[in-house]
Amino acid sequence: MGSAPAEWADAMSNQDLAIVILAAGKGTRLKSNLAKVLHRAGGRTLVEHIVRAAESLKARQTVVVVGHQADQVAAVVEPLGAVTVLQQPQHGTGHAMQVAKRALGRAKFAVVLPGDAPLIRTETLKALIAVHRNGNAAATILSAVVSDPSGYGRVLRKSETAVSAIVEESQLAGEQSEINEINSAIYCFTLEKLWPALAQVKPNNKHRELYLTDAIGVLSAKGEPVLAQVAADSREVLGCNTRADLAEVDRVFREWKRSQLMDAGVTIQLPETVLIDPDVTAGEDTVIEPGVQLLGKTKIGARCTIRTGSVLTDAVLGDDVTVEPHCVVAQSRLDDRVIIGPFARLRPDNHLKAGVRIGNFVELKKSTVGEGTKAMHLTYLGDAKIGTKSNIGAGTITCNYDGFHKYPTTIGNKVFIGSDSALVAPVRIGDGAYVAAGSTITDNVPAGALGIARGRQANKPGWAAKKRRELAAAEKPKKSPRRKTKRKSKPRRSPRKRT
Ligand code: UD1
Ligand code: MG
Repeated sequence: MGSAPAEWADAMSNQDLAIVILAAGKGTRLKSNLAKVLHRAGGRTLVEHIVRAAESLKARQTVVVVGHQADQVAAVVEPLGAVTVLQQPQHGTGHAMQVAKRALGRAKFAVVLPGDAPLIRTETLKALIAVHRNGNAAATILSAVVSDPSGYGRVLRKSETAVSAIVEESQLAGEQSEINEINSAIYCFTLEKLWPALAQVKPNNKHRELYLTDAIGVLSAKGEPVLAQVAADSREVLGCNTRADLAEVDRVFREWKRSQLMDAGVTIQLPETVLIDPDVTAGEDTVIEPGVQLLGKTKIGARCTIRTGSVLTDAVLGDDVTVEPHCVVAQSRLDDRVIIGPFARLRPDNHLKAGVRIGNFVELKKSTVGEGTKAMHLTYLGDAKIGTKSNIGAGTITCNYDGFHKYPTTIGNKVFIGSDSALVAPVRIGDGAYVAAGSTITDNVPAGALGIARGRQANKPGWAAKKRRELAAAEKPKKSPRRKTKRKSKPRRSPRKRT
C-alpha cells in the first residue's frame, strides 16, 4: 500500500487541534473608538491577518473570542470560516479562554493567539505544534529574545528547556526586569491539562483580571512539562498595543510584501517609499518607481512601469502598460500597452483596451475606450463607450448628468472630436464622424458627418483700425482742457516776476 500524500497527512494530523484567537479587548492604549483588532496594518485588519495565518493549519475549528464591537469583529472573521464566542464583560485573557471552552468540542490541543500580534506566520505555528506534540507538553509557549522587552510578559525558565512561569511587566521583581525573553501570548495547550490549571488562577493583579499567563506557572508548579520555543524572527511576535506598535507592524508587513514581489522579478526603486497591499500581484520586469501605492486587489502584468506618485486601487493591468507620474486609478482595467498620465484620474469601472492613450488631466468614469483611441488633454469621459482609433480633442466633456440621472455617450470608430466640445448625453457620434471644435452637441451625429454646433463666425474687415481711432478720439477731449489751463496761467505769472 502506498503512503498518503504529504498534504493529506498535514490536513488530517490537525483534526485534534482547535485555534483560539483572543479578540475581545478594547485596546485602551490605542486611544481609539475602534476595537484594537479592527485596526489595520499591512493592508488588513489585525484579526484578519491572524485568522488567515491559522487557516493553513487545517484545524478542526477556529474560535474567535469577541467582546468590544463584537458584531464588527464577527463580520470580519466569520466569512473566513471562524466561529465567534462572546466574552462580556472582559475579565482578562484567562477568562477569555474559559469563555471559549464550550466551543472547542472534542479538540485535544489548542493553539491560542492574541488578536493583536498579526505578523505571525503559519510555518512558525507549525513548528510550535510540532515541539508541543513531540515534547508531550502541557503547554508550549512561543517566546522571542528581543533587545527591548518593555511592554511584554517575561519567560522565567527553570532549565534550558523548561519554563517555570510568565511574569507580566507590571509584576516584575528585582532582576526579572533584566530578562529579555518575552511571551508572545501565542501558545499550544493540551486542553485536559489547561482547564484545571486555569481554574486555580486568581485575579491577583491591579486590573483584577484572570491572566492566561498565570496558568503557565500553575502547570509548572504541578510538575507538568511546560516548554518554550524561541521564534526565529522576533518581529513575528510584535504586538500592537500602541499607535507606534501599529506603525512598526505595518512597516514590517510592507517590507515583506515588497521582498516577495522583488523575488518574483519586480524592480522597486527606493522600496521603503512604496506601499503594497497583500493581495497585489505584479509580473516580471515591471518597474515600480518611488512613492507608488498599489492597493486592494491590484494586478499588474509583465514589463509595466508604474511611475512616481501613482495610486492604484483594485486596478487590473495587462502587459507593457505605462502609468506616468501622479495618476489615480480605481477599479479599472487597462489592457496591454495602454499609457495613461501624467495626472490622469480613472474613477471606477473603466476598461481601456489595448494601446489606448489617456493624457494629462483626463478623468474617466464608467467608460470603455476602444483599441488605439486617444484622449490626451483636459477631458472628462463619463458613461461613455468609445470605439477604436478615435481621437478625443483637448477639453472634451461628456455632459452625462442632469442632476437626477446619468446618460450614455456613444462614440464610434475613427471619430474625431474637436477640442472644447461638450457632448450632451444621451448622444451618439457615428463611425468616422467629425465634431467641430467648440461644439455643444445635443443631437446624434450620423456616421461620416460633421457635427458643428456653435455660433457662426463673422469677420468685419478694417474694424480694428476704426475702433482704435474712435478710442483715441474719445481720449483727447479729456486731456486738452487741463493743458489749456496750465498754458493760460504761465503768461500771467511771468510778467509779474519781471516787474
Ligand atoms: C499579553 C500577555 C503578555 C504578552 C503580550 C504579547 C497576558 C496577561 N499578557 O499582554 O504576557 O507578552 O500579550 O503581546 O495575557 N483579550 C480578550 N479578553 C480579555 C482581555 C484581552 O480577548 O479579557 C484579548 C485582547 O483583545 C488581545 C489579547 O487578548 O487581542 C491580548 O490582550 P492584551 O491586552 O493586548 O495583552 P498584553 O498586555 O499585550
Ligand atoms: Mg497586546
